[in-house]
Amino acid sequence: MNDTTFLYKDTSGNPALYCEDVLLAGLAAKFGTPLYVYSKAQILRNIRKFKSLFAEGDSNYVSYAIKANSNPEILTILAGEGAGASVVSGGELRAALKAGFDPKKITFDGPGKTDEEITLALRSGIFAIDIESIQELSVVNDIAASLGMKASICIRVNPHIDAKTHPYISTGLSHNKFGIPFENAFEAYLLAHSLSHIEISGIHCHIGSQITTLEPFIESAESIAQFISELKIKEGIEIRHINFGGGIGVKYHSSVSHKFLDDKTETPLPPIFTEKDFQDAIFPILSGTGCTFNFEPGRAIIADAGVLLAKTLYTKSNMEKHFVIIDASMTDLIRPSLYHAYHQIAPLSLTKGTPLVTYDVVGPVCESTDFLAQDRSLPKMERGDLLAILSTGAYSYVLASNYNLRTRAAEVLVEGNSYRIIRKRERIEDIIA
Ligand code: LLP
Repeated sequence: MNDTTFLYKDTSGNPALYCEDVLLAGLAAKFGTPLYVYSKAQILRNIRKFKSLFAEGDSNYVSYAIKANSNPEILTILAGEGAGASVVSGGELRAALKAGFDPKKITFDGPGKTDEEITLALRSGIFAIDIESIQELSVVNDIAASLGMKASICIRVNPHIDAKTHPYISTGLSHNKFGIPFENAFEAYLLAHSLSHIEISGIHCHIGSQITTLEPFIESAESIAQFISELKIKEGIEIRHINFGGGIGVKYHSSVSHKFLDDKTETPLPPIFTEKDFQDAIFPILSGTGCTFNFEPGRAIIADAGVLLAKTLYTKSNMEKHFVIIDASMTDLIRPSLYHAYHQIAPLSLTKGTPLVTYDVVGPVCESTDFLAQDRSLPKMERGDLLAILSTGAYSYVLASNYNLRTRAAEVLVEGNSYRIIRKRERIEDIIA
């Protein structure tokens, strides 16, 4: 995370956490909690870093995986930057088109597209439907035939590569439901070649998410390059484009720092590779195939641009644990419950000399897995104290639910010293109507 986006400023005696030039406690007071807050500057910084890897007029490009955060205002910002879009549902496709993404840079993946979704994709003239099974290939051919058009497709291959990430977010192993294994991909391309309403536009691969070393990407790029060359030699089928997927990991620890916080629980992890490292390692392999290419990060574009604000409802202790019970829960941010994911938690204001306490930070939901952090050292919290859960721009709001009939939080976008609501807080009246 760039320190100028979310940082403590010491303007009124006590350090207080800001997003750009906006006091986060002020937003919590104005809009209530739980509240998602995003920094436009950070979104732009992230997408522009990726864009800078390509020269002006380059036919290779970066896409945004909309599933990471599909707030319409955020999509509009990224479409305005000329990014492509990776979508996984008819809903995401419609959101991408509405936000202004160029259909020729939209790809649609996912192992279970409905006939209606395939029809929408074909009618929208997107770059490619990523085919995830032999059966899907025939279905897409039939639907394209019924519409009197050719379907532009990529075959999503599953290269059986260990992304060395959490098993729930690995996608490129044989036991995963995604894509077609290399062993069957020849057959898929031969079939695609023979079908009258299919146009082969390329190859797609995505091996997992939150990948923090380059090796799995290198392995994946090399295996795709080899496959492309074999397909040409053995079957005479030429691939023109590689969609290299997403998965670039981000740093979740030490998103913000201050001497009043305990940095010991902010485990120093080995630094993650930079965009430039990714370029140096991967681009030559992809370019070496003679293909154009794109890749489609989600998390690396949006994770560190968002925070979730919450308020302390109660504190309590038993023989084993100290708890901070906050008004945000697994219904707002499920990543800790689902993947044991780590998000830094930081009070919105700090006072010198507050003792540190080791807490479980938990929500009000009736599940023992409703925790946002476990065994976390924080300055002693009191009822009413506000805190921020950091790096929650990706896979956070989008995974929110109404479990326990809780309403989804509001979302605010900060730009310099101004801010605006980009999604209203859900109202219980609308849910129980
Ligand atoms: N492309 C495809 C085909 C994908 O399935 C995904 C993510 C991406 C691109 C973007 O991956 P990213 O660059 O964001 O890693 N809910 C999980 C992450 C699930 C990722 C699903 N696919 C989490 O909270 O960690």
